[in-house]
Amino acid sequence: MRLRWKLLAYYFAGFVVVLLTASFAFRGIALRAVHSHMGGMMATMMPDTMRDLQNAVSGGVEQAVLVGVVAAGLVAVAASVGVALSITRPLAQMVEAARRIAAGSYGQRVDYRARDEIGEFSEAFNQMAAQLEATERLRAELLATIAHELRTPLTNIQGYMEGLMDGVIEEDPATYDMVRREAGRLARLVGNIQHLSRLEAGAERFAPQPLDLPAAIQTAEMSIRPQFEEKGVVLGSGAPDDLPAVWVDPDKLQQVLLNILTNACRYTPPGGQVTITASQAAGHLLVSVRDTGVGIPPEDLPHIFERFYRVEKSRSSTGGGTGIGLAVARAVIEQSGGSISVESTLGKGTTISFTLPVAPPSA
Ligand SMILES: Nc1ncnc2c1ncn2[C@@H]1O[C@H](COP(=O)(O)OP(=O)(O)O)[C@@H](O)[C@H]1O
Ligand SMILES: [Mg+2]
Repeated sequence: MRLRWKLLAYYFAGFVVVLLTASFAFRGIALRAVHSHMGGMMATMMPDTMRDLQNAVSGGVEQAVLVGVVAAGLVAVAASVGVALSITRPLAQMVEAARRIAAGSYGQRVDYRARDEIGEFSEAFNQMAAQLEATERLRAELLATIAHELRTPLTNIQGYMEGLMDGVIEEDPATYDMVRREAGRLARLVGNIQHLSRLEAGAERFAPQPLDLPAAIQTAEMSIRPQFEEKGVVLGSGAPDDLPAVWVDPDKLQQVLLNILTNACRYTPPGGQVTITASQAAGHLLVSVRDTGVGIPPEDLPHIFERFYRVEKSRSSTGGGTGIGLAVARAVIEQSGGSISVESTLGKGTTISFTLPVAPPSA
């Protein structure tokens, strides 16, 4: 049975029960009143008149009940229509919207703003729809980006090979090296995508252990120093002596540090400076990598941890990376129980900071 018919039946039944109860009570009271008013004597002297009087009272009550039943019917209809308008209509709207969303039209929203439970329900429904729409858009964008990223090195390899076959490009080691480098880029890209998708799916194994943070920072510094020296950027670090051990997978932490430091080096002009600091805050350790580089425009800041997001979108990925480095860093840090953030002033420099939990004393 439709909700509105159920409501109509409930209301009507409710009103009729109340009405009948009230009318029985009323009749009892009225009859007793007549009795006591006329007195027992009149009842014995004129029994007919007494009976007439009683019948008149009963008849009156019956008529009143009849009128009441009709009124109750009308009120029930009005009430159920009112409730139907405020409950069943938005519900029906949501059913319709949900069906459309399921069929792929993600722009559907419900328009019901009253501040009641149904209003809260519609709001939650709309939030869910917006989230689905955003996810769907991201998915489509992601496919397009991956296709685009794969195309560039493939086109280059194809171009070299055709040039070689036509004799337009010379067969020398430099050409082969170029082809090899493009193939390497392709392999790196696919590897990064695979790695990120494993991380995001939670399929990557984490083996956290107590780790000396300054020592880990030094390891990363050592492996990336040649890159800094080649570019002429100064790399330095500092940490207090009494830092407690951090709780993290060592390899994963190295990867995060290298991703952030590679960016710092890449986006800092020669003569600039990059500083890594470690410190302790409430319950966790904080690592900051500060550079004196080109900075990030404010409108790009909220997005730089998204996969494939690059500030200079047109830049060929030979110059920059693929926009995966910070997405990997965020996935690793968040799955290690920390958080990562960025502060930046355009033209002045950028600071990427992340937290990690302190190792538990038992470990
Ligand atoms: N230290 C930095 N200074 C300026 N811009 C940065 C810095 N780190 C990251 N970015 C910006 O954030 C984007 C995303 O970084 P990342 O995920 O590592 O991708 P990419 O592969 O381009 O390095 C970069 O394209 C760059 O525009
Ligand atoms: Mg990078």
